[in-house]
Amino acid sequence: MIGLKYYSEFLERIPREEVSQIENVVREAAASLRTGLLIQTCGSYRRGKATCGDCDILITHRDGVSHEHLLFPLVDKLKATNFLVDDLVYTDKHDEEPGAHMRYFGVCKLPGENTLSRRIDIIIVPYSEHACALLYFTGSMLFNRSMRQLADENNMYLSQHRLHVGVIRMGRNKVNEGRLVPTPTEESIFQYLKLPYRPPAERDY
Ligand code: TTP
Ligand code: MG
Repeated sequence: MIGLKYYSEFLERIPREEVSQIENVVREAAASLRTGLLIQTCGSYRRGKATCGDCDILITHRDGVSHEHLLFPLVDKLKATNFLVDDLVYTDKHDEEPGAHMRYFGVCKLPGENTLSRRIDIIIVPYSEHACALLYFTGSMLFNRSMRQLADENNMYLSQHRLHVGVIRMGRNKVNEGRLVPTPTEESIFQYLKLPYRPPAERDY
């Protein structure tokens, strides 16, 4: 129903300057709730595209705890100013499933009469998962698939949360989960996969 309501607006690509303005609204609201949050727009924006289909915002905190219980107050704050106008997916599974991504997928609109309603995705992750989440959320989808396939072929497991090495598979099934390895940066993930680092602008394929 929401897709139909905004059908023609969602067909319009978002100029990157507007994505940056959207990011700033989220950044200011988040900063008024907590200090020191790391906020980064990923997806096609981070890959350097001139226009984007939506705004993919990743939030974490270096101290490893201040990202917790942030999603609901942040969304409330962004709704109070009528920046968020409709919800699609809204979950804070953190209490049930420690480490699960907290995410809000919805619709936002910058103030002004001539602005369009835009798709916005906000994901909040623990700092230990930051690099895997950043890699995943930056994409492209095709690039992610290739990275995961390469991980599988090298007895590893790569997801938006973590990287495991020493995974044993029988066909497609894992018979041994392997070992979780620290991934402090995106570069470290490329290194495990023995790949030269590729900056976001070179991750379209
Ligand atoms: P999207 O916002 O759907 O893709 P995008 O930002 O690359 O392109 P667009 O300009 O159309 O918004 O998703 C963000 C990233 O999340 C995407 O680049 C890769 C990852 N992703 C997957 O790996 N699998 C999926 O099924 C989806 C939806 C996204
Ligand atoms: Mg996107």
